[in-house]
Amino acid sequence: MARVPEVLIVDQDPAARFEVKQLVRGAQLGFAGEAGLGTEAVSLASEAKPDVIICGMSRPPARSLQTIEALLDVLPETPIIAYAREEEVDVVRQAMLAGARDFFQIPAEVERLVDSIRSVLESEERKRLRLSGQSKGIGPKGLVIAIFGAKGGVGKTTIATNLGLALAGNLGQSVVLVDGDNSFGDVAAMLDMRPDRSVVDFIRDTDKIDRTNVTEYLMRHPSGLWVLPAPRESLMWRSVSPDAFRKVLNIVARRFDIVLVDSAAMLSDLALAILDEANMVLWVTSTDFSSINNSLLGLEALQQISYPEARIRLVLNVTSPDDGVRPAKIETVLKRDFFWSIPYDRDIRIGAQVGNAAVIASPGGNGARTLIQLAQALTGGSAPAAPRPTRSFRFFKRREPAPEPVVEQEGG
Ligand SMILES: Nc1ncnc2c1ncn2[C@@H]1O[C@H](COP(=O)(O)OP(=O)(O)O)[C@@H](O)[C@H]1O
Ligand SMILES: [Mg+2]
Repeated sequence: MARVPEVLIVDQDPAARFEVKQLVRGAQLGFAGEAGLGTEAVSLASEAKPDVIICGMSRPPARSLQTIEALLDVLPETPIIAYAREEEVDVVRQAMLAGARDFFQIPAEVERLVDSIRSVLESEERKRLRLSGQSKGIGPKGLVIAIFGAKGGVGKTTIATNLGLALAGNLGQSVVLVDGDNSFGDVAAMLDMRPDRSVVDFIRDTDKIDRTNVTEYLMRHPSGLWVLPAPRESLMWRSVSPDAFRKVLNIVARRFDIVLVDSAAMLSDLALAILDEANMVLWVTSTDFSSINNSLLGLEALQQISYPEARIRLVLNVTSPDDGVRPAKIETVLKRDFFWSIPYDRDIRIGAQVGNAAVIASPGGNGARTLIQLAQALTGGSAPAAPRPTRSFRFFKRREPAPEPVVEQEGG
């Protein structure tokens, strides 16, 4: 972005406004003005036409939420970033529901503000270019969805493979599933594919690969799903650097509308690189105590590195017929609503074990249907009979209704 972004500050509290203004100055951003909540903000915004609006959350947050909605009515394309003194999960969620793109806590570091503004502007720019069809030159990118979870056995690979098959097979999307599990990647095994190439070959030839020849380095499942398997010998992962893996994701994202990345259950450098490249993270937890506990620690760790909260979607996967922790309790502990919830289903289990995924083997089953509906929700398809909460679902619909227009077609 050649021009310095102009920022408008909206807050009822003059002291907070002053504090944030200092931050904007410190970040060497342009200052488009400041206003209190309500009509004052809306009229100034429509006059000043800032690049970004940052809005303080009032207590209670109702007035700020109304203001955010009113601002979006007049300037639907202007990203709004919300902030508050305390990052209460509920306030964050409400702000996001109202349409804010990001959230930070004050006092904040200048870098936090700069990062936030950069990321909301970049995503706005990408959307704008796509909508106006000008994206060819700079290369459009597909949606990168990381399937993550803080423990092995919570069903990450099961979900990644079923989702990939549902997206490619049932919904005809252009999708690649990349195995990013550098402990024991088993995507290919779960799809009953015998890989003759892997991410290691891809990385060796990265300089020669572009969107026109990328499929030569991938494998195709009969459903139409493309797969980039893990190396057969897991020690070969040692030659894969996080940066090299980022490049892989960037290349495939230029060729496919949706890039699914399965991952290992640890916050390694590779995992952090994957999370960084992802536009959305499906954070999988099962109902057992250690999975929940690890999720809590993992999510806290991401918060500490200011990972954008809005990218994370919590997914409950019930992997065992035995009683576990109640879902409502898990939501309380993790301070998040479930975006989706997948029931225990024998067909899912058997499918994963014999390499015949439930969405293909028994698409009418309870579990498979839930997974197909999840695929639909991710592609902004018709609102499924959501297997879970209206609140989270609304959150998703309003924030990122569709993974942006489909810009590339499946071509080979
Ligand atoms: N919803 C489910 N219902 C029944 N079994 C499941 C479900 N999800 C996963 N499983 C089973 O749990 C096991 C672990 O799943 P996996 O996808 O390998 O976990 P991860 O990739 O997180 O290590 C597999 O045997 C799979 O069949
Ligand atoms: Mg796995």
